[in-house]
Amino acid sequence: MAALLNGSGDAERARFREDALSGLGQPRKTLPCKYFYDAEGSKLFDQICALREYYPTRTELGILRAHASEMARCLGPDVLLVEYGSGSSVKTRLLLDRLAQPVAYVPVDISREHLLETALTLRLDYPDLAVLPVCADFAAPFALPRPPRPAARRAVYFPGSTIGNFSEAAAVALLRGVARRVGAGGAFLVGVDLKKDPRELERAYDDARGVTAAFNLNLLARMNRELDADFDLRRFRHRAVWVEEASRVEMHLVSEVEQTVSVDGVPVRFARGESICTEHSHKYTLDGFARLAARAGLAVRRVWTDRRARFSVQYLEAHAPPRRARARRQPLNVPARDLATRFRPGGSSRAR
Ligand code: TRP
Repeated sequence: MAALLNGSGDAERARFREDALSGLGQPRKTLPCKYFYDAEGSKLFDQICALREYYPTRTELGILRAHASEMARCLGPDVLLVEYGSGSSVKTRLLLDRLAQPVAYVPVDISREHLLETALTLRLDYPDLAVLPVCADFAAPFALPRPPRPAARRAVYFPGSTIGNFSEAAAVALLRGVARRVGAGGAFLVGVDLKKDPRELERAYDDARGVTAAFNLNLLARMNRELDADFDLRRFRHRAVWVEEASRVEMHLVSEVEQTVSVDGVPVRFARGESICTEHSHKYTLDGFARLAARAGLAVRRVWTDRRARFSVQYLEAHAPPRRARARRQPLNVPARDLATRFRPGGSSRAR
């Protein structure tokens, strides 16, 4: 079993090598954040989620616990539920427990080990549910497995505010992909982290125990393991910084000294203080996210937040052909607290 779950394969290594070298070859060095999540990185990320400073996971779980029944009602019966970046599917269980006869659950994740382990335990815990895992990068095209019976409706679930890790253009492209995938009248349930005090944000991305630093540095360790690189982890430092103009936290790995690192035989030079940008985590206002979604043909129907409006879970519906959809402004300039009462799951009965 272990062997079966472990094989990353020559093609995957070649792609990792190419992505890494191309990112490190830029004038402003970057590494694609999807490579955070090997077995080690996935474990570290689970530890991040349990940190006192890292509010998103806990806050999103609280919102789900309080409103999962309503969310399940919005999705409707006989739904085909596709999850982007499923990880351990902890949040999904809250939905699965309340959905009316879901047709299938399709967890999509790039970390094969994590995905298959999770699928196995879900099958044990939900014997009546078709669990059809897909190992893929959800931002790239991938085929959906055939469900055992036709679905009344398709829904994409995208928790964790991973949408915040995409640039604006990439986020719109991803949301268009979602709209296309679920079709007109289809559903989208998404976790969106909200703008807040920069100090709280920077703490969330640079915790006192250094778990987040270890998570970020694991990217370098992974290159050492898989790409015969020789990064000295003591010579790079994790840095998280809030950039107001871009409304995002930027994650960097800063070279503490001038050094040359070898990545599979290719020399990569670093000046002292030069950084590799590993991730952006955009924080949205409710208005801002509604506008972004509208550009992709998705209309916000419901918004649930915690008391302090730190995080939101939002239910959206795809309207007809995303390309023709005009940017329809959503009247979201009301206090977050009022949203839950203002927005009804309008049109959710328009199931296909
Ligand atoms: N998607 C997570 C987020 O933006 C990932 C994350 C948490 C992360 N902490 C990090 C990524 C630190 C890089 C470095 O919240």
